[in-house]
Amino acid sequence: MTTTEGVVFERFSAWFDGTPALVNVSLTIQPRSITAIIGPSGSGKSTLLRAINRLDEGLPGARRAGALRVAGDDVLAPGTDLSALRQRVGMVFQRSNPFPRSIFDNVAYGPRLTSRTQGSDIDDVVEDALRRAALWEEVRDRLDAPAHTLSAGQQQRLCVARALANRPTVLLLDEPTSALDPQGTVRLEELLYELQRDLTILIVTHNLQQAARLSRRTALLVDGVLIEEGASDRLFTHPTDSRTEAFITGRFG
Ligand SMILES: Nc1ncnc2c1ncn2[C@@H]1O[C@H](COP(=O)(O)OP(=O)(O)OP(=O)(O)O)[C@@H](O)[C@H]1O
Ligand SMILES: [Mg+2]
Repeated sequence: MTTTEGVVFERFSAWFDGTPALVNVSLTIQPRSITAIIGPSGSGKSTLLRAINRLDEGLPGARRAGALRVAGDDVLAPGTDLSALRQRVGMVFQRSNPFPRSIFDNVAYGPRLTSRTQGSDIDDVVEDALRRAALWEEVRDRLDAPAHTLSAGQQQRLCVARALANRPTVLLLDEPTSALDPQGTVRLEELLYELQRDLTILIVTHNLQQAARLSRRTALLVDGVLIEEGASDRLFTHPTDSRTEAFITGRFG
């Protein structure tokens, strides 16, 4: 395992209209594992995630500094192909956002866009992505049904399948289970646990128990500053920073 395969922030900062949202963050996200990003509301968690596939690109007033590499590639370089980057780096949001199309078309969307896959091959790509997203058995007989007819948890796994169909190396999830019931949450967690075998997974969560049980490593942000990063089993039991202890014991945030 080499760190060049993961995601590396080096003295990375982000501002919105001159106000800092991330301050000098240096953080290495290990490949083939789950890293949890925790912190109070407004601490920069989503900004950190969105930076990786440059989602805030083009926002007037948004400014970035420092280095950010995905599998060794400088993704902030002016020549970066943004659509290629967003295929390598898949994103799943808090509220599942399937397109108003069929289940099949949602998953086929990315591969069709790049015309990487055509004809009957697309069926295999869709099936494979749905299987990897642990959704195939539930939807195989209704692939033409509108995506919105799925349950919230199924829709969230559909969004994972849609990302997986692009064969990403990094999967970003921003509070993916906050709108799910306990059962849907367990299904998604089990899925992520499986997927970490060949993906770099970053998950933002407000659920500290989820971070502790699911992630190998955890990073705490407070006011845009990386306070502490380390093995989750250590960080949640023996935090080194008093602010981490305050946060995980619920004394602030
Ligand atoms: N598009 C934007 N325009 C202006 N300011 C923004 C924008 N997006 C984020 N910010 C600001 O950047 C800071 C960090 O926001 P961010 O969304 O990253 O926080 P967060 O940790 O994800 O919070 P939450 O837990 O509430 O989702 C906040 O002060 C926020 O107001
Ligand atoms: Mg957020």
